[in-house]
Amino acid sequence: MVNSLVDVLFCINEEGIIEKIISPEEPNYQQVLVAAKSDGILKELASSEYLLPGFIDLHVHAPQWPQAGLALDRPLHDWLNTYTFPLEAKYADVEFAEKVYSHLVDRLLSLGTTTALYFATVHKEASVVLAKTCATKGQRGLVGKVVMDHPNENPSYYRDASTEQALSDTEAFIQEVQELNQTTKQGVYPVVTPRFIPSCTDEALQGLGQLAEKYDTHIQSHCSESDWEHQYAYNRYGKSDTEMLHSFGLLTDKSVMAHAGLLSDADMQQFADTGAAVAHCPISNAYFGNAVTRVKQLMDDYQVKVGLGSDISGGFSPSLYDNLKQAVISSRMLEDGVNPLLSAEQRGKAESRLSLNEVFYLATVGGGEALSLPIGKLDVGYAFDAQIIDVTRFPFIEETDLDEVFQKSLYLTESEDIKQVFVQGELVYSNKGAK
Ligand code: GUN
Ligand code: FE
Repeated sequence: MVNSLVDVLFCINEEGIIEKIISPEEPNYQQVLVAAKSDGILKELASSEYLLPGFIDLHVHAPQWPQAGLALDRPLHDWLNTYTFPLEAKYADVEFAEKVYSHLVDRLLSLGTTTALYFATVHKEASVVLAKTCATKGQRGLVGKVVMDHPNENPSYYRDASTEQALSDTEAFIQEVQELNQTTKQGVYPVVTPRFIPSCTDEALQGLGQLAEKYDTHIQSHCSESDWEHQYAYNRYGKSDTEMLHSFGLLTDKSVMAHAGLLSDADMQQFADTGAAVAHCPISNAYFGNAVTRVKQLMDDYQVKVGLGSDISGGFSPSLYDNLKQAVISSRMLEDGVNPLLSAEQRGKAESRLSLNEVFYLATVGGGEALSLPIGKLDVGYAFDAQIIDVTRFPFIEETDLDEVFQKSLYLTESEDIKQVFVQGELVYSNKGAK
């Protein structure tokens, strides 16, 4: 059972942090309630409305938004070269970037995603546009200028001009976004972002590890996604993706690696030892992963931090509601197995299923822990990032049963049920029309 709070008062300070949570039994409850009302700062929920923490999307390719729901007919390597790199190359045009990023950030906020960890493109200017868009619209954005400098592994029309340029652009990007963060209430953060090992030279990977350390930034990349990518590191180095990321200084407690579907037990231990987190992207994995990520083992056996990612547009849905449902479904299929020609004993991998509570954790607390930020919980000391859900449309709902409300909210919420969204105490979306 998830911990539910009934009729409490959330007291939010100027910085948008939850300073106190006062329950009806406490002696000052009435007094605080009356004072807030007379000051005109009390916000009350209707009886059909419930508050959930905002969701944290740990893996979004913002430039791929125009391609969401398209082009899912090829394996990863082919998909990148055929569809994705030509699309991402278009962000040399800053106006195009402004149009797409504005549309995407609005959409994510309307779905209750209050924090997102983004890949932009190789272009420094357009990457800054994404950070500015988050800053202006009130979303907490962590943004990476993507590095793809390997001359033999990337198309000539879409890559960094050189290793030196990739590193100097990354450094300038970090400085600009750290500057922007000074005036952004909810925070915007630069992220060191080697696309994945195949697209980078060793010099770039090494240099990026050093930049992350110098500026104490987050780091993101892809790890062991698909048989092809998993095998690539063995072919180039004779070692796993995980071992190599670690050797370049790219696995730290501020690292978030997408997918990690084919990690060995030793790789999982490496994640645990370094404090690096995994972004589980269950919809995308069904298309590109070639396996279901062992989330249960990562969390329970290795205490690795795990959160949830949409992986737009490898995942077609921008909604973390859709992704958390898929996380449950995929884990059930991993546990039972999927080949009907095998006996029940041989078919699956025991103890793999994720409960609804666990995937809710991934979308909230898990994401906050992965990013080492005080977000993902409606608790004292955390940012007030929240979404108001109206349950009126849910069939035959028993509103006094909070566990039922919780389950139906996760399984049945659609866009129209999300009424308002707050980030750092500020209203950033209202479905009567954006702010
Ligand atoms: N690996 C390298 N780039 C990408 C990407 O854009 N999407 C996914 N899913 N995997 C990748
Ligand atoms: Fe991805």
